[in-house]
Amino acid sequence: MDEIRERVKQLAAEFGGKDDPTGWFEALYREAAGDHGRIPWADLEPNRFFVEYAEKIGLKGDDRTALVVGCGLGDDARYLYERGFRVTAFDISPTAIEWARRLHRDTDIRFFTADLFDPPKEWFGAFEFVLEIYTIQPLPLGLRPRVIDAIANFAALDGRLVVVARGRPDDDEPTELPWPLSRRDLARFAENGFRELAFEEMLDDEDPPVPRFVVEYRKY
Ligand SMILES: C[S@@+](CC[C@H](N)C(=O)[O-])C[C@H]1O[C@@H](n2cnc3c(N)ncnc32)[C@H](O)[C@@H]1O
Repeated sequence: MDEIRERVKQLAAEFGGKDDPTGWFEALYREAAGDHGRIPWADLEPNRFFVEYAEKIGLKGDDRTALVVGCGLGDDARYLYERGFRVTAFDISPTAIEWARRLHRDTDIRFFTADLFDPPKEWFGAFEFVLEIYTIQPLPLGLRPRVIDAIANFAALDGRLVVVARGRPDDDEPTELPWPLSRRDLARFAENGFRELAFEEMLDDEDPPVPRFVVEYRKY
């Protein structure tokens, strides 16, 4: 895994140097050539912090529309689908999207290749539930407000948004990719018209453990 994380850092630095901060995702998915073990965040399971939260609140889709941001191989999209949502999911990497379509061809999840910064206009304000897991944290800190504003745009009025991210205290300076989020970073969602409904902090099993934030908002 260390070797894979090193490769991620190399690719991110290489593309960052070409002023293309998102190009490395497609390069990584392509290089993996169908082996999910070469994608550090992919385990063919839904995110366990999100699952814990969803089970705790008894999350049900009830046929509501959901959008999964930066969906990667689509396991979180599938989890929402199985809980009864009508799911759209997108990622900037065409290779990830083809892969996700193959893995989940027994569902009717709509997978799209799309860029968060230039999404289909009909997605604005369109979704009753938006799920964001780990898309904010690997993008450069300088882009963070734009990333958050872009995610905020997808939720309908009264819609819910759940964000799962690595967390850090407000005054810690993140030193390396992935760049964890602070509560101050998250305050940008409030500026976009979201009210926080729940904030959970869970510890992962890394050594030393890293806090993960699971935050639920309502758009008003
Ligand atoms: C760290 S991965 C997390 C993937 C997935 N959410 C998960 O938790 O397994 C970040 C994902 O965001 C996607 N991504 C990065 N920038 C994006 C953008 N501008 N628009 C859409 N997707 C993006 C990447 O291709 C990658 O699949």
